[in-house]
Amino acid sequence: MNRDIPFFDIDKIHYLESVDSTNNYCKKNEIKNSEIIIANEQTAGRGRGKKEWLSLGEGNLFFSGKLVIPIENLPKLSLFSLFIGGAVLKTLQAFSENSNEFKLKWPNDIYFKNGKISGILLEAETYGNVTIIIVGIGINFFSEREFPNLNIGKLFESRISKETRNTFIQKMVANLNLFIQKLYSDSYPTELEWLWQNSILRDKIIRTRIGSDIVVGKAAGFDPNGFLILSGDRGPITLYDTGEDFQIL
Ligand code: BTN
Repeated sequence: MNRDIPFFDIDKIHYLESVDSTNNYCKKNEIKNSEIIIANEQTAGRGRGKKEWLSLGEGNLFFSGKLVIPIENLPKLSLFSLFIGGAVLKTLQAFSENSNEFKLKWPNDIYFKNGKISGILLEAETYGNVTIIIVGIGINFFSEREFPNLNIGKLFESRISKETRNTFIQKMVANLNLFIQKLYSDSYPTELEWLWQNSILRDKIIRTRIGSDIVVGKAAGFDPNGFLILSGDRGPITLYDTGEDFQIL
């Protein structure tokens, strides 16, 4: 593996029984570059935009990995976030016969049919000439109970064996490294196109707010930064993230 390309080390996984948040734990100084934290249970999982990440039961996947990247080698974080989503999507697809039912919901959620099956929380901070990125990934393997008011997706109908869980983890780490390599290679536009082809938002009409303006447009693709392009009445609009007001019409 090219040492200049950030990667996760499959031989450096710290397994925890229970933790508040694997992302919090991963930020500790004792956790080094490329190391991974996996917990069996999370008691205060965090999501994007101050949301929480529910634990659906012990044995689901709560994963965080640390990358320490010299700033001159830092990828565009918007693209990085999308590619991490791509790696998770590829892994989930490989574990199901209904692979085309798994879709990316920009910026990096993964849905199975109508339910969210995976969420990703990236946290980046720069110290001097390095940026530390914590890549937090939650995967719903199964649920111990029903949540009638939430659209939750899960990969399996019941608790899974340790072997299946480990195989999934191995495959996901391999795909994360593969997608990070692709991001650093000249072929990244091909991957961006694959991500678009596997996107829930493709050709959907989106309504959202930019500042004080409400904008409406058809989701038309990703730009080279991984931002979403809407084609609106008055020309293309670039969205940098989803917000509270983001709606699929
Ligand atoms: C989201 O969809 O809003 C992101 C959810 C991210 C959840 C994962 S679970 C492992 C890691 N630890 C956390 O506290 N959050 C991330």
